[in-house]
Amino acid sequence: MSSRIERALVTGASAGIGEQFARQLARRGVALTLVARRAERLEELAGQLDADVEVLPADLTEPGDLDRVEARLRAEDQPVDLLVNNAGFGSYGALAELDVEPQARMVELNVTALLRLSHAAVGAQLARGRGGVINVGSTAGFQPDPHAATYGATKSFVRSFTEALAEELRGTPVRVMLLAPGFTATEFQDVADIEPGVLPRLAQMTPEPVVAAALRDFARGRTVSVPGTANTLMQLGADVVPSSVSRRISGLVHRRFAGTS
Ligand SMILES: NC(=O)c1ccc[n+]([C@@H]2O[C@H](COP(=O)([O-])OP(=O)(O)OC[C@H]3O[C@@H](n4cnc5c(N)ncnc54)[C@H](OP(=O)(O)O)[C@@H]3O)[C@@H](O)[C@H]2O)c1
Repeated sequence: MSSRIERALVTGASAGIGEQFARQLARRGVALTLVARRAERLEELAGQLDADVEVLPADLTEPGDLDRVEARLRAEDQPVDLLVNNAGFGSYGALAELDVEPQARMVELNVTALLRLSHAAVGAQLARGRGGVINVGSTAGFQPDPHAATYGATKSFVRSFTEALAEELRGTPVRVMLLAPGFTATEFQDVADIEPGVLPRLAQMTPEPVVAAALRDFARGRTVSVPGTANTLMQLGADVVPSSVSRRISGLVHRRFAGTS
């Protein structure tokens, strides 16, 4: 994106990586539109930021709420020139042993909402002649993920979709970037019900360097941002190791998260 970002809409801004996007963008003087279900968390964050903040509570798995956020992205008043599609969740376990409804809701949030919001943002931004989108995937999108089969597949979608869209937009004033973090210390692990102690803090990044790397890579015009040396090595490994091997390794790791090893 060549021109300055004046307003960013961040989904999943009530916690973790999304909250950190809000904090770092506010420090750069960017006005914000914050989206998540927990309105009180968004209001509290808005009160802490020295920025023009609009709070837009929404459950992105509810079609009516999703429509409202799409409409906000298309609005010409206080236009959004950066969308951060960050809201998402995961879960671990063998598919046959999991309730299907949360798995289907994961697809609605991690895939359908991200697709619809990308579509709304990019269409409006092309018409305005400026803009950008950061889609938050995961290193889980680099290979099949047994015992996190749905989550890994949603993040493979985010990777493929974002890289393809970036190519479609080549030569236009609108850019999209994939951010693929590895394990990051947020509420994600609680939401995913990962067995306490299985994932040591030392094996995780904090959200601050993840978001700093993302914003730096976006400013440099990168299409893919993978923060952290270990995660970059994992990406390179996934590019050369056959999926028959990488899926075995990934399955062994994820079984431990679900407490089934
Ligand atoms: N943490 C990791 O290890 C890790 C690694 C790789 C990728 N990621 C990805 O990073 C992104 C952010 O995750 P995080 O680690 O920051 O997790 P987090 O701390 O649990 O934050 C998730 C955010 O998504 C929002 N959200 C969840 N369901 C929603 C819904 N139906 N509608 C609207 N907002 C919703 C939550 O807000 P409300 O509950 O208030 O709605 C929260 O703000 C996700 O896409 C995740 O897959 C995380």
